[in-house]
Amino acid sequence: MNSSDSVSRGWQLLATRLVHAGRPDVVQPDGNAQGVFVNSPVSRGSTVLFPDLATMKRNGALRYEHETIYGAMGSPIQHDLERAVAEIEGGTDTQIVSSGLAACTTALLAFTSAGGHILLPDSIYGPTRRFADTMLRRFGVTTTYYRPEADIEELAGLLRSTTQVIFAESPGSHTFEVQDVSALADLAHDVGAKLLLDNTWGFGVFEPFRHGVDVSIQALTKYAAGHSDAIIGAITVADRDDWQTLRDATIQLGQLAGPDECWLTLRGLRTMSVRLAHQARSTLECALWLQTRQEVHQVLHPALPGAPGHEIWKRDFTGAGTVFGVVLKDRYTSRDMERMIDSLKLFGIGASWGGFESLVLPTSGGISRTAGDMLAAPAFRLNIGLENVTDLCADLEEAFSVLESSAHERLSGV
Ligand SMILES: Cc1ncc(COP(=O)(O)O)c(C=O)c1O
Repeated sequence: MNSSDSVSRGWQLLATRLVHAGRPDVVQPDGNAQGVFVNSPVSRGSTVLFPDLATMKRNGALRYEHETIYGAMGSPIQHDLERAVAEIEGGTDTQIVSSGLAACTTALLAFTSAGGHILLPDSIYGPTRRFADTMLRRFGVTTTYYRPEADIEELAGLLRSTTQVIFAESPGSHTFEVQDVSALADLAHDVGAKLLLDNTWGFGVFEPFRHGVDVSIQALTKYAAGHSDAIIGAITVADRDDWQTLRDATIQLGQLAGPDECWLTLRGLRTMSVRLAHQARSTLECALWLQTRQEVHQVLHPALPGAPGHEIWKRDFTGAGTVFGVVLKDRYTSRDMERMIDSLKLFGIGASWGGFESLVLPTSGGISRTAGDMLAAPAFRLNIGLENVTDLCADLEEAFSVLESSAHERLSGV
């Protein structure tokens, strides 16, 4: 298998499931056949009417079965998306929520309580970190940050008798450290804690529940929606008790997603394997090209041999994503890098990733670390879209000449 196949294999393995998962069934629950649209139609509503109180009560008792007695408990199209995501993640039940961030915060609220302690990787998505440092702290939950590359002995030393959750994000936001999720799961379970994983990068190419994860979190905003036109998240579990805990929390918090976002996401899922197989190959090609550039100190892409986390990626993942990091040589300053980024023509300057279009974002300076070192040299993150990869590399090449001129002017005092 060549390296390009290794990043796209997982998406190809998923192709059939992505086309069929969560589609309306031509056989109704009562066994009667019915004609259905290929795609779930958008269903809008708040009040649900029942023929009598007994039916209303029966449906209310079924809320753990993704039943709706009121629109705040989800709509039929949300439940179709939940079935699809549960199947792709390999879990039993999924709760769709309003954003990827809401998926992180809702899961943390569901599985912690006052007096509890959690372990978060230092590489975690910034807004999740802020939630732990502010709101969770106010509610009496204490956080310890761990180095994402820490070994199990180091992590074991951070556990407390009150540890309720170990949170993982693999690879980490911006710096792309790959974590040994199975080992983290064993560690969490040994002390009766839950392992929560932000599996957004690994959607479809990392099977969380086979690695002992209890709760898998997705920003569906990225790969699933795929067109940078929806914000939506998902939380998936594989255990009935965890599902009850989660469902109770999401109903109490009023968490759901609008029908249009669910529809856009289901639509995005149908083409995800083609988009992402293509994008993953272009991403690797671009990363390999960047490795040859003299301006670049390091390319942080887990599928590159020698990159941080590569061995675990090779062992645990069936494919790779579209976003990765680039660390420049320390001869350049942040100002040189900013000039370079401003000169790019095909890469949009913007947050997020996983969409059909290429994006760039500076990472050094904007991230906080308390358990380990910050990136010392200027660094940026690229999302590789569906553009021709030769065009993208040509754009980067021109921008590198802007980077070099900026450094030259500065160093020669021009
Ligand atoms: C790893 C990760 N998790 C969660 C989120 C939050 O997703 P959303 O933008 O849907 O809130 C992001 C967004 O960039 C992310 O990168």
